[in-house]
Amino acid sequence: MATHIRSIRDMDLAGRRVFIRVDFNVPVDAGRITDDTRIQAALPTIRLARMAGARVILASHLGRPKGKRKPSLSLAPVGERLAELLETDVIFPEDIVGDGPRKLAQDLRDGQVMLLENLRFEAGEKTDDTDFAKELASLADCYVSDAFGAAHREHASVHALPRLVKDRAAGLLMLKELEVLGGMIQRPKRPFVAVLGGAKVSSKIGVVDRLVTKVDKLVIGGAMAYTFLAARGIKLGKSRVDKDKIALAKRALMKADSRHVEVVLPSDHVVVDEIYEGAESRVETNDDFSSHGIAVDIGPASAARYAQEIGEAQLTFWNGPMGVFEMPPFDAGTNAVAQAVAHTGGDSVVGGGDSALALKRSGFLPFVDHVSTGGGASLEFIEGKELPGVEALKVVRLDL
Ligand code: 3PG
Repeated sequence: MATHIRSIRDMDLAGRRVFIRVDFNVPVDAGRITDDTRIQAALPTIRLARMAGARVILASHLGRPKGKRKPSLSLAPVGERLAELLETDVIFPEDIVGDGPRKLAQDLRDGQVMLLENLRFEAGEKTDDTDFAKELASLADCYVSDAFGAAHREHASVHALPRLVKDRAAGLLMLKELEVLGGMIQRPKRPFVAVLGGAKVSSKIGVVDRLVTKVDKLVIGGAMAYTFLAARGIKLGKSRVDKDKIALAKRALMKADSRHVEVVLPSDHVVVDEIYEGAESRVETNDDFSSHGIAVDIGPASAARYAQEIGEAQLTFWNGPMGVFEMPPFDAGTNAVAQAVAHTGGDSVVGGGDSALALKRSGFLPFVDHVSTGGGASLEFIEGKELPGVEALKVVRLDL
């Protein structure tokens, strides 16, 4: 049976209560939102729904409160920011389910907006509980998911709930994420270069495995590169190596070889004897690496090479920092990659919070074609895994 995902544009929204699952999992510091990108990203869907005359019920998680009410993880500051951005009042019920929010939802007028409190304050969210999903379903007439960032979670509001609501669709952000990331994997422009960084090989090995079947070149930086260099027999002093992942890295390198995909690893590094803010550093190559040294960033020659590879690509995907980027000046390699991605003549797609943060800090963010709002979700999508929150949106297509 053919299935497809409907668009919110094809929904009848006038005068109806629409439950929109968004990903407002934003960084909050002492009640202040330090980055509202995810709120901004959901605005087109919310605006579209309001303009169509819908009564909007927004819901999200924030952090990991483990089924308990944690004031520091309240969505109240998000509601305030949303009210500013939408220039309208945002109703914020105290309870998530029960008579209170149900009555408020029933009384909503066309175009009004209500935001539920952090869904993860209820244990049923994380356990994908059907009863909790039914409670949520009783608030609305139809369901929209714009929460691509949470689509890899089998949680009630993204998985059990949509399956209970016949009239369901994807929001504009969800559709864009699926289109851009799906297009990148299925119909990439060539040459297609993927630049992967970050510390943990284990969280990226699935992505490496899939990308070597899709890309023309795979460029690796960050601490994960040290494990790949170890797999090639290169020793980097006391640099962080995931010893039990060396075999996996070897396998990935062999797979790349058999497909004639070049894997570019750093040839030089910024090295310290101890990692701390302001530590004295030097540059060392793979051939002259000191036995006590710790690599903290790709070196200048590697940064120039990576920038060149990105410059020659028609499509670049970047995920993960090239070093300890939270500790300047060890962010130089990451910034060089951010700059190259922003200035490439080809298409650019970025996934993951750290890369997006580096782009934002360096001012290059506006020049990137698509910055995914999904960290884990974008990686699992690229890996080829089914995302529960995407699968649950599918409806049977009647080809009449
Ligand atoms: C994210 O920030 O990647 C999403 O909001 C999912 O959050 P989680 O990892 O806590 O499920």
